[in-house]
Amino acid sequence: MNINPITPSFVADISDIDIRSISNDEFEVLYQAWLTYGVLRIRGQQLNENELQTFSARFGPLEEIPMGRLPESERAKIKNHYVTQLSNIIEDGKPIGGLGNAEANWHSDMTYVENPPPASVLLGVEIPDEGGDTYFSDQNAALAAIPQALVGRLGKLSIKHDAAHTSIGKLRPGFEPFDDPRDAPGASHPTIITHPETGKHALYLGRREWAYIENLSLEDSETLLDEIWSYAARTENVWRQQWRPYDLIIWDNRRVLHRRDDFDSNSRRLMKRCQVLNRIA
Ligand code: SIN
Repeated sequence: MNINPITPSFVADISDIDIRSISNDEFEVLYQAWLTYGVLRIRGQQLNENELQTFSARFGPLEEIPMGRLPESERAKIKNHYVTQLSNIIEDGKPIGGLGNAEANWHSDMTYVENPPPASVLLGVEIPDEGGDTYFSDQNAALAAIPQALVGRLGKLSIKHDAAHTSIGKLRPGFEPFDDPRDAPGASHPTIITHPETGKHALYLGRREWAYIENLSLEDSETLLDEIWSYAARTENVWRQQWRPYDLIIWDNRRVLHRRDDFDSNSRRLMKRCQVLNRIA
């Protein structure tokens, strides 16, 4: 296995590896590389859903796919509860996956729950000729760019993360609309987190939309959020993934934010994703 850093501070390409057959020792090297770089790309991994699930589960128990407040009858129709499809493809009049062809704004996954998944594993299956690129932003570097006085202030503050909307801004099934971020349902997390495995500090913002900084007036919260977000995705800390079929990306939600471009609704894009709860001790 070769580990080739792509940017100075984060993201590495892993080559000469078939992740279906790596030993425990090789997986340990991969795991440490994931902690070091925050984002790993492994090209040419032609996995079926079971293989994707089996590989992802080596990082820890898998999170059930987010179903919001979907009724039991709808949940029963979902075939695999650990592999989510993200897609704009319509079959039998119904979308086969989430997010459609829309742009997804900067976010890290599922920060609206108390214990968000540390690892997300995303496999590109069908890729449009243009658009649908995914971007990652290093939140260690984002934090390092913030003036110390502001870091000191942020260290005492927590952000409430909205559970009701998706990363393309749609209301999830079963949630009521609201127009004040203080009314958003969802978990609160410190604005700056310490990575439990590396000990490094990172900005931890979740998503800008419907966020609220606890104990501030709404106006002060909005102003401060805008200021913090101005550091979150500066060009020098952002890496862009231009997908090829069977690229596999594993990222650390405690270290990076991600977003994705929209793409032509007439082209087809299909991605499969697993999310990992926590590493087995
Ligand atoms: C997401 O996790 O926000 C979507 C990533 C993608 O479709 O590339």
